[in-house]
Amino acid sequence: MSIRIAPSILSCDLAELASEVHEVERAGADLIHLDIMDGHFVPNLTFGPPLVRCLARHTSLPLDAHLMVSDPTPLIGPLAAAGVARIAVHVETCPHIQRTLTVIRDQGMLAGAAINPGTPLAFVTEITAWLDFILVMSVNPGFGGQEFIVESTDRIWHLRESLGGRDFDISVDGGVSTETAQDLVSAGATTLIAGTAIFGAENRRAALESMRAAATGGQAS
Ligand code: DX5
Ligand code: ZN
Repeated sequence: MSIRIAPSILSCDLAELASEVHEVERAGADLIHLDIMDGHFVPNLTFGPPLVRCLARHTSLPLDAHLMVSDPTPLIGPLAAAGVARIAVHVETCPHIQRTLTVIRDQGMLAGAAINPGTPLAFVTEITAWLDFILVMSVNPGFGGQEFIVESTDRIWHLRESLGGRDFDISVDGGVSTETAQDLVSAGATTLIAGTAIFGAENRRAALESMRAAATGGQAS
């Protein structure tokens, strides 16, 4: 599986959103990661479907929505209509997750489960029949620019192992950098989500290229 890099717009200049996204698109990004927060499941607020709909007119990259909200279900239809390609809901927020994931797929999107650093992996390994991807948090969600939780790399090893030989996307999100990318990929991550490491860099193209080079090193090792 080829490694994909998904810049998170949480760390870009949101007042210049279209040009920020153009820049990473031209520089070789594979997806655009959208952090949707409700100020309840996480202590921060971001944006919702109206902004996503406007952004979709400015990029041809797939939009990857990460819902950090206590009640994701009402957002699924509006995000599909706004042009989102895949949605991850947090396992910690979904008591009826089979239903939630099915609603996402029924709207024509890929369905993912996001998991916090402290939640047992069984919460995702037990539900793979309804999943297209898993999003492993390597920080506690809510903010960009946090320090990578080092135990996350082992967690990805365990997860990849328990998925057997299956070609299944494991995305990793939080504190991902050129320094952490190689180990994450060799542990089994296939999508690297990165905010600060890309939008915080003066040269976004160079940041993307060095992350991709590190990821390629991880595939070889
Ligand atoms: C954190 C978000 C991340 C965030 C990552 O709650 O889910 O997507 O944007 O930002 P960095 O790469 O700066 O940790
Ligand atoms: Zn995210």
